[in-house]
Amino acid sequence: MKESDFAAHLTATMTGSALTMLIGIGHRTGLFQAAARGPATSAGLAERAGLHERYVREWLGAMVTGGIFTYEAGEYTFPTEHAKFLLGDTASNLMPSLLTLSAFTAILPDLERAFAEGGGVPRSAYGPHLESLGAKTGDSWKHIYREHLVDGFFGAVPGLTERLAAGVRVLDLGCGTGHAISVAARAFPASRFTGIDIDRRVVDLARQNAGDLPNAEFAVGDAAALTADPPYDLITAFDAVHDQDRPDVVLRQVRRALAPDGLFFMVDTFFSSDVARNVGNPLAALTYSISLMYCTTTSLAEGGAALGAMWGTEKATEMLTDAGFGHVRVAASPRPQNCIYVCRP
Ligand SMILES: C[S@@+](CC[C@H](N)C(=O)[O-])C[C@H]1O[C@@H](n2cnc3c(N)ncnc32)[C@H](O)[C@@H]1O
Repeated sequence: MKESDFAAHLTATMTGSALTMLIGIGHRTGLFQAAARGPATSAGLAERAGLHERYVREWLGAMVTGGIFTYEAGEYTFPTEHAKFLLGDTASNLMPSLLTLSAFTAILPDLERAFAEGGGVPRSAYGPHLESLGAKTGDSWKHIYREHLVDGFFGAVPGLTERLAAGVRVLDLGCGTGHAISVAARAFPASRFTGIDIDRRVVDLARQNAGDLPNAEFAVGDAAALTADPPYDLITAFDAVHDQDRPDVVLRQVRRALAPDGLFFMVDTFFSSDVARNVGNPLAALTYSISLMYCTTTSLAEGGAALGAMWGTEKATEMLTDAGFGHVRVAASPRPQNCIYVCRP
């Protein structure tokens, strides 16, 4: 990259960071909701949102020049085609991820200390702010599951939806707030679904979210201590393996808990284990950053394996093979940042 291009690249990087902070402000002050009601002057928007005009005007300046709003004849517009990425109950809404990024600033001093002293930042240090965001991140996955679980994710494995329709035993490990199970249990009433998660608080939320579904149950449990009784026909893990403290043990337990013709369906990040092969992937720098600020350091805090979110397909395939899976295939998922590991004994 030429020197002048690199300076421009850094300026664009700063702009992205600054806009991320201002997007958080827009979310918390209700400015996006207010702007979605239609074009307005800065005074009109400030009045709509119950805020001070001078602040709103400066914020709008950044939104317009940052390509989020448009401006014409004194009025600011939040285009509907942009609004769906920052508001609303769909998988397109990126607000939870944007808010999570700015919430990481709270742990940066601890993280920097760990660079020098070793160890890591424990999950508890992220505080209630990130915890409540965790529930919201679960919410954004809710929409992803509703829109993509059955046809997009399960549909990527030939014959899987037919087996689920006929009725099988399913375990979802690291089920979080349980939205995958809720969607799947409704779509496949003949199958029985069990979700386990080590975190009691998310298991309580999962139970609430599932309501009175007769074919879904949730338990607090450690995937590293999974038993093979009863064996499962399908074990799923959505974004729940790379953060494990002992992923090798978990994968071996999963292999043991599967029926002979069972399937392990692991959805995880879709990158290479080799940094050189990630160059040019537009999602790589963001995912390395999140991995550093959350996945890697929280695992190191527990003395865990610290695979990180960028462990990559080569490392994942090697670990799945070491755990005893004879057939491992990496399939595309409906989201470019994820892939599906289709693993059979
Ligand atoms: C990134 S979240 C994904 C949650 C859920 N699968 C989803 O898609 O919304 C990872 C989950 O794995 C859980 N987890 C981590 N280690 C675990 C373990 N050893 N056994 C069971 N669950 C675990 C965490 O508590 C967390 O809820």
